[in-house]
Amino acid sequence: MVQFKCDGCQSFIKDEAYAAYVQKAFEAFDVLRDETGEGNDFLGWKALPSETPESLIAACEDVRDQWKEKGIDLVVVIGIGGSYLGAKCAVEALSHAFVRPEGQPQVVFAGNNLSEEYLAELMDLARTRSTAVIVISKSGTTTEPAVAFRIFKEYIEQTYGKAEAAGRIVAITDAQKGALKTLATQEGYKTFVVPDNVGGRFSVLTPVGLLPIAVAGFDIRAMLQGAAAEREALLVKNENNAAVRYAAVRNLLHADCGKAVEILVTYNPKLTYLAEWWKQLYGESEGKDGKGIFPASVTNTADLHSMGQFIQEGSRVMFETVVSVEKSLRDVVIGSDEQNLDQLNYLAGQHVNHCNAMAQLGTKLAHIDGGVPQMEVSIACINEENLGAIFYFFEFACGISAYVLGVNPFNQPGVEAYKKNMFALLRKPGYEAQTEAILKRI
Ligand code: PA5
Repeated sequence: MVQFKCDGCQSFIKDEAYAAYVQKAFEAFDVLRDETGEGNDFLGWKALPSETPESLIAACEDVRDQWKEKGIDLVVVIGIGGSYLGAKCAVEALSHAFVRPEGQPQVVFAGNNLSEEYLAELMDLARTRSTAVIVISKSGTTTEPAVAFRIFKEYIEQTYGKAEAAGRIVAITDAQKGALKTLATQEGYKTFVVPDNVGGRFSVLTPVGLLPIAVAGFDIRAMLQGAAAEREALLVKNENNAAVRYAAVRNLLHADCGKAVEILVTYNPKLTYLAEWWKQLYGESEGKDGKGIFPASVTNTADLHSMGQFIQEGSRVMFETVVSVEKSLRDVVIGSDEQNLDQLNYLAGQHVNHCNAMAQLGTKLAHIDGGVPQMEVSIACINEENLGAIFYFFEFACGISAYVLGVNPFNQPGVEAYKKNMFALLRKPGYEAQTEAILKRI
């Protein structure tokens, strides 16, 4: 379960303003719960934790088991944006940072950039491994994953033969339409469906996230249970509702205190991609119609030695939301040293996590003194259950927050602009007029 605190905002906001924004957030909560707002045909994510059928969970686990039996030790997950960041976040958070457990495939990601070097180096790895591919695209036409998939499809077919390739490629896409759906049907790939009523950035608890997370060896049942428990808690409309409070305070800091940037702060590199996932969720949901809070992130304590200066003393445009983890699942205790040249003997016998906690607390106080309000979202430890809970917490709060801000949380019209220019410059058929216009500008 996710806990929320905003005592680090007390000196920045007045009680009456807080009460007014909680009221606005309650109104937005009603709109989200009753499904009466803009974009309400994209609310399928709300029920996922409680309504995901056993057959779907079992189908994800079947792919995991079949690929294990085949001896597959590299799974390339191809996707971008909402078709990538949730799974990447969970795999990064739950995996051992350096050692792959025996019998588990390495799960890597492609199709989230257009770097030739990235693809070439990933092919180098694939050539040394027994490789399978999960290709994820709701639309089936997104350029980055389509390019990566074309290359990996050819490699898998040439290496293992066409018949075997069909057993090494799984597609996750629309139920009925799109290029990937057509191809998957034609080639006989196993397919999973991205529900029509779930947008990319809200899709981590659909097969888009669940399949790669299961294949990587993690417990998707526990993840769904954690999300379901969080959902139960967030559906209770009262002043302790963590999503209502988070949505209220961030909108208040934005509207009344002139804060234009929210920094999601983590103190564990395992959570760096939680922040990447969160940035897409809030950036795409709220950044439109000339409105929104710019979502940024830091991973401390590393970034205290780089971005720390700006956050402490630079332009006062930001507030912070710290994702706090109460307990480390591993123990490392600092030893004593006879010479004590590094003068660390005062820490002898202490857990490294104690130093991390004190750095976190010291930073909170320093940043508040420096004019940076701070909220805190905490989980007990990093595991599947708590990740499920925090995914659901941020999604639900995002819906409320965007309605408070007055935008449709579930569309992303702005992402087409770069694509049109890129297609014109790549001379995609049908873009001839734009090509001419664009060539005059460069
Ligand atoms: O949230 C979104 O809708 C986007 O980030 C998409 O997920 C992303 O562009 C990938 O789209 P698709 O899954 O259609 O390839």
